[in-house]
Amino acid sequence: MFATSRAPTATWLSVLPLLVSVVPGVAATAGQTCNATTLCGADAPCCSPYGYCGSGPDFCFGGCDPLYSHTLTSCMPEPVCKDANITFKNFDRILMNQTAYNGNASAWDFILNQGDILNTTAGEMVMTLTKENNGTRLSSTRYVHYGQMTTRLKTGRWGGVVTAFITMSDIKDEIDWEFPGVLTTTGQTNYFWQGNIPAEDAGETIGNLTDTYDNYHDFTVDWQPDALKWLIDGQVVRTLTRESVTDNSTGVSKYPNTPSRIELSIWPAGISSEPLGTIEWADGLINWTDPDYVSHGYFYAYVDSVSITCNDPTTPSANVTAYVYGKNSSTDTPSIDFSNETTIASSGAFGFDGVRASGVKWAVAVSAAMMALGSGLLF
Ligand SMILES: *[C@@H]1O[C@H](CO)[C@@H](O)[C@H](O)[C@H]1NC(C)=O
Ligand SMILES: *[C@@H]1O[C@H](CO)[C@@H](O)[C@H](O)[C@H]1NC(C)=O
Ligand SMILES: *[C@@H]1O[C@H](CO)[C@@H](O)[C@H](O)[C@H]1NC(C)=O
Ligand SMILES: *[C@@H]1O[C@H](CO)[C@@H](O)[C@H](O)[C@H]1NC(C)=O
Ligand SMILES: *[C@@H]1O[C@H](CO)[C@@H](O)[C@H](O)[C@H]1NC(C)=O
Ligand SMILES: *[C@@H]1O[C@H](CO)[C@@H](O)[C@H](O)[C@H]1NC(C)=O
Ligand SMILES: *[C@@H]1O[C@H](CO)[C@@H](O)[C@H](O)[C@H]1NC(C)=O
Ligand SMILES: *[C@@H]1O[C@H](CO)[C@@H](O)[C@H](O)[C@H]1NC(C)=O
Ligand SMILES: *[C@@H]1O[C@H](CO)[C@@H](O)[C@H](O)[C@H]1NC(C)=O
Ligand SMILES: *[C@@H]1O[C@H](CO)[C@@H](O)[C@H](O)[C@H]1NC(C)=O
Ligand SMILES: *[C@@H]1O[C@H](CO)[C@@H](O)[C@H](O)[C@H]1NC(C)=O
Ligand SMILES: *[C@@H]1O[C@H](CO)[C@@H](O)[C@H](O)[C@H]1NC(C)=O
Repeated sequence: MFATSRAPTATWLSVLPLLVSVVPGVAATAGQTCNATTLCGADAPCCSPYGYCGSGPDFCFGGCDPLYSHTLTSCMPEPVCKDANITFKNFDRILMNQTAYNGNASAWDFILNQGDILNTTAGEMVMTLTKENNGTRLSSTRYVHYGQMTTRLKTGRWGGVVTAFITMSDIKDEIDWEFPGVLTTTGQTNYFWQGNIPAEDAGETIGNLTDTYDNYHDFTVDWQPDALKWLIDGQVVRTLTRESVTDNSTGVSKYPNTPSRIELSIWPAGISSEPLGTIEWADGLINWTDPDYVSHGYFYAYVDSVSITCNDPTTPSANVTAYVYGKNSSTDTPSIDFSNETTIASSGAFGFDGVRASGVKWAVAVSAAMMALGSGLLF
């Protein structure tokens, strides 16, 4: 019934300008696409969340794809999970300027990647969507490698507008709670494995909720090594076992299994640049003269709190700071190791002097990328 075949990230991809590959080669250079066949070269070692090679914070921090980067150690290590109950009485622990991120996950819980947030006297966070800001998205600074994550939120209620609470790994394992359009008595669950739809029935709609615009509900993703459960207000509404998505002949398990960040968003699925299927799924094009939009000046979704209970299969010792990717542990699945490497880059947003053992020379590569941007070569 619903288009269960798309990831929210596809939308965020589509709002970005397309970069053009100029010189094909063995390794991809700055601004070129990175993929399974062409990894990034040494000069632009990090494969960004949007699939382009480069260096510096926008490429090497959260979302940097280790498998498509120059080496498995090109991306910055992923800050390890930490139990937390995050509320929004103030935004002290939200980094508003993502370009200023230095990898210090102790300083911030979330990064505002896009858009605008507001606070209320009740201590809620309001994520806004306007014609101009293209929606709001926040991502957690820390990763979860199994654990239970609950967001207490109120969704939007307008055609073309989608509210989402998802987990996303750096190789695009994804677990979703999504609330499209005018459907305020349902929640949609979904999951992806390495950016792929693992099964025809991956998406599943949960119905009969009390209005999700008017009422807070607790939406939970309980992600454990052998089973994934979605819950509403503490009640399990869907269970997916690892076994059920493991191909018994090849051993490939299409189960989300890599460290993931939490993402919260309200985004415009109903705009003409989106694919028709996405627009239909979200109940059509956004009506920018909707009375709610006109009176507030924005569409909105409320977030009351986010809580995280980590459940790493092996309890990390005190010296563990991060997750890093290793060689395949089984067919098509990278191994994930604990690391004691720092997740923090050595100086401000630009002008890093190389952080990881792999010798990333960010200062040089970033300025080259900036020159390319400035000259309009890439965009
Ligand atoms: C992979 O990236 C290379 C280099 O940017 C590009 O030439 C090639 O078309 C890409 N392949 C796919 C399948 O996208
Ligand atoms: C978060 O809240 C839950 C339930 O109120 C509580 O059990 C847990 O200890 C809290 N966790 C932290 C890190 O404060
Ligand atoms: C964001 O941070 C970068 C890097 O520190 C800085 O250059 C830029 O001016 C900041 N932007 C705003 C709007 O503060
Ligand atoms: C990281 O943030 C914490 C908490 O704000 C702070 O105490 C610490 O000094 C920061 N570390 C670095 C290297 O910036
Ligand atoms: C929003 O947060 C700011 C800074 O913490 C505070 O001064 C302001 O009163 C808050 N607004 C509301 C409506 O609570
Ligand atoms: C929103 O999207 C439009 C169209 O792609 C773009 O021109 C504009 O710069 C974007 N605005 C922001 C704040 O990202
Ligand atoms: C809502 O509840 C009714 C009655 O229990 C049931 O028949 C129906 O299938 C439910 N709808 C959804 C979408 O779960
Ligand atoms: C793999 O085998 C298990 C145990 O027999 C079974 O439950 C599961 O459905 C099988 N996986 C698939 C994808 O058929
Ligand atoms: C948009 O909303 C306005 C105000 O409710 C309404 O008059 C108009 O018919 C709507 N437009 C469409 C295309 O539905
Ligand atoms: C993991 O396995 C896949 C195929 O099973 C292979 O394409 C890939 O190169 C392997 N990756 C590593 C890091 O060994
Ligand atoms: C942490 O310290 C223990 C004991 O000193 C050591 O065995 C372990 O390898 C260290 N782990 C990491 C990730 O550094
Ligand atoms: C850090 O990890 C390395 C192995 O990767 C280990 O040799 C070293 O003892 C660890 N240091 C600490 C302080 O745990």
